[in-house]
Amino acid sequence: MVTEAPFVAVDGVGRSFGEGPTRVVALAEVSVELRGGEFSVIVGASGSGKSTLLNLVGGMDRPSTGSIRVGETEIAALTDRELTRYRRERVGFVFQFYNLIQNLTARENVALAASLVMPGREADDVAGDLLERVGLGHRLDRFPRQLSGGEMQRVAIARALAKRPALLLCDEPSGALDSTTGTQVLAQLQETARTTDTAVVVVTHDRELGAAADRLIRLHDGRVVENRRNDRPATIGGKAGAG
Ligand SMILES: Nc1ncnc2c1ncn2[C@@H]1O[C@H](COP(=O)(O)OP(=O)(O)OP(=O)(O)O)[C@@H](O)[C@H]1O
Ligand SMILES: [Mg+2]
Repeated sequence: MVTEAPFVAVDGVGRSFGEGPTRVVALAEVSVELRGGEFSVIVGASGSGKSTLLNLVGGMDRPSTGSIRVGETEIAALTDRELTRYRRERVGFVFQFYNLIQNLTARENVALAASLVMPGREADDVAGDLLERVGLGHRLDRFPRQLSGGEMQRVAIARALAKRPALLLCDEPSGALDSTTGTQVLAQLQETARTTDTAVVVVTHDRELGAAADRLIRLHDGRVVENRRNDRPATIGGKAGAG
């Protein structure tokens, strides 16, 4: 599914930290577009600005210069309160280290997130469905410590999807996993982009993921040095050129 208008339009965005001689320019003049239903992959060396860009799009930080439009909303112009609401209602995050609540089961972790946007009883059902969808229907009542790394990350994906986010932002989601398990997690994310209107964005060090991306964005020293659409993306964990 690819919508016509860009869903997220990052335009001339800069982000610097500090002042004077210690000033660090993390991003400079970055312009990219992300679309619903697309699987976008951001690559680049350590320190190139990948997480900074993801945090800006996710409303966890504000740009020093430039504009970030999400749908009709200029998020750089939102008040703190409005930005909190944006993060809570429209953005799902998946991080390297899962960040699950240890004393809640898989289902409870997901239901808690779902309950932000729907009544509690409905949230329990939605949590079960989502965990089923990420292949964890048989792990609903397990606590995080009773799950493998890949299973925990799939719970984190289900949790991020629970609020039906417009944007799913993933910062090295397979970074802590062995390659087989990491591939399963990335396949799940690609599948999400293919089957929903969510714009899925993955930051990765995995060079091979570029071939599977609908859009590949490469950063170098805070600038976009490559940005291309791939009309025949490989299916992760499957055959090439499908979709
Ligand atoms: N809050 C901050 N204060 C000061 N400098 C920062 C801050 N956040 C990021 N930086 C700097 O901005 C640059 C880009 O950092 P960023 O975390 O975006 O890189 P990255 O591409 O995600 O790297 P990695 O692959 O190691 O995660 C780095 O030089 C970093 O030190
Ligand atoms: Mg990073």
